[in-house]
Amino acid sequence: MHFHIVTLFPESFLSYLSTSILSRALEKKKIKVSYYNPRDFTADKHKRVDHRPYGGGPGMVLEAESVIKAIAKAKGKKRKVKIIFFTPSGVSFTNAYAEELVKKYKDVIFVCGHYEGVDARIKKIFSMDAISVGPYVLTGGELAALIVMDATTRRISGVIGKYESLEEERIASSDVYTRPEILVYKRKKYRVPKVLLSGNHKEIDAWRMDKK
Ligand code: ADE
Repeated sequence: MHFHIVTLFPESFLSYLSTSILSRALEKKKIKVSYYNPRDFTADKHKRVDHRPYGGGPGMVLEAESVIKAIAKAKGKKRKVKIIFFTPSGVSFTNAYAEELVKKYKDVIFVCGHYEGVDARIKKIFSMDAISVGPYVLTGGELAALIVMDATTRRISGVIGKYESLEEERIASSDVYTRPEILVYKRKKYRVPKVLLSGNHKEIDAWRMDKK
């Protein structure tokens, strides 16, 4: 998949993309990431892209024109491309949405808003999904884009070693354990549930279902 990110802060993606499983996905060419900075598309000689809102109100608004040009550049001549606009008032992001992206799209454009938002006219020009990553307000869309990219990339085949979505549905449990078998903390012993040491996979699956 190719993620095209329209952002004023492309460098804010680098630390996560250079360390996580996403960095391996990039190396393995399972994903590709490109950045389009509205500042590079503004006609303003001071590269200014935010202005006061018409009608008054707090904060600044990201201007439409340079964002439109950045999206148009990302879109190029591609016909099938999903454009996602991040906003706390959007539809909640889910695993099902991530799965659909993986199944149906090769190119996904993320539009990361900032300040009080982006001039609403961009919604008239491009058909976009308005997506929220949770019931809280972030300072910008960059973290939201990383969340969607992460949850989507892990569903691409070959990104996570043993990944099998059915398996994930069937026996995933929130509780997992690893060495040591007996953890001692402040003289108290914490043991791994016996069933996990039993080697009986039927019982282990049943326990995991129960713990879901
Ligand atoms: N931008 C600011 N807050 C956001 C949120 N919760 N989800 C998506 N984009 C946002």
